[in-house]
Amino acid sequence: AKTLTLLGIESSCDDTAAAIVRGKKILSSVVYGQTSLHADFGGVVPEIAARAHAEKLDLCIEEALKIAKVKLSGLDGIAVTAGPGLIGGVVSGVMYAKGIAAATGLPLIGVNHLAGHALTPRLTGRIAFPYLMLLVSGGHCQFLIVEAHDSYKRIGGTIDDAPGEAFDKTARILGLPQPGGPAIEEVAATGDPGRFPMPRPLLGQEGCDMSFSGLKTAILRARDAVVAEKGGLTPQDQADLAAGFQDAVTAILTEKTRRALTVYLESAPKRPAFAVAGGVAANGPIRDSLQALCKEMKTQFTAPPAALCTDNAAMIAYAGQQRLAAGQTDDMQLSARPRWPL
Ligand code: KG4
Ligand code: ZN
Repeated sequence: AKTLTLLGIESSCDDTAAAIVRGKKILSSVVYGQTSLHADFGGVVPEIAARAHAEKLDLCIEEALKIAKVKLSGLDGIAVTAGPGLIGGVVSGVMYAKGIAAATGLPLIGVNHLAGHALTPRLTGRIAFPYLMLLVSGGHCQFLIVEAHDSYKRIGGTIDDAPGEAFDKTARILGLPQPGGPAIEEVAATGDPGRFPMPRPLLGQEGCDMSFSGLKTAILRARDAVVAEKGGLTPQDQADLAAGFQDAVTAILTEKTRRALTVYLESAPKRPAFAVAGGVAANGPIRDSLQALCKEMKTQFTAPPAALCTDNAAMIAYAGQQRLAAGQTDDMQLSARPRWPL
């Protein structure tokens, strides 16, 4: 089979990204983050995000082509995130991709953002189907058995917030900067996780579902109690609260991964493998804990490099490549889908 070269476009949340991928070679991967644009608002503002995507796509795609030293005529297809995500941003990306496809006659391939994350371990490493995937980011948290590029079995996930969202909210409650994940990880390193024990909802229950929304309420209460007593938080209070929170998230993710692995191993895979991806997979203690669990359960552990765990377009180009090779292309009717389960 011919080695396919695709342009990938991603604009479903707060990163505008474009990439050129040839086979498993990432020729370029450009990401424009929007964190600073949303900093004053306590979260991603859809309207601001959509506008910033529309403004940045041009530059982003041009840069990706330039860095890769590839012309549009050297491409085999245009892959674009068609959902799930914030609709304004997804529409911007899809319209842009349609424009290029119409102008060049290249195949257009709509990609599910979650498939992009879920296939990244195969782009960056050697891992065979079927593998168990924990996709854990600011917007998502689910266990998937990845059977093929177009076949996923969801066996559990969060019933409320995503962990990244909980990290971000907890950072705000503690007066730490955004994005909250790295900020909490840093201060938690010097904290005592035992001082403020946090709830571990659903931990005792059957199944692979998780819940994180109770954690921020617990953090809020614990913070208010300290503030009521002393009039404010010392750096040690911050560190201890952050450590208590991070410890609870790690415990929930690890124990639920143990259950998900048990379900997956029942299908008797020849070479059992587990992968974690998404922004929260950048967290050291969480990664370490999952890796230790995999060792205990004799399962290969993989986590893509941090830059490919968080949102990027190389994963979209790679997922698009698999679809193109299977003849799964789209036409100008391709629509942007705010919700799109795998
Ligand atoms: O995958 P991503 O870039 O975007 C989404 O699709 O959501 O993930 C961003 C999320 C943010 O909530 C951020 O706080 C979290 O990932 N994150 C972390 C760490 N680095 C990023 N969470 C915990 N520990 C980290 N080191
Ligand atoms: Zn994502």
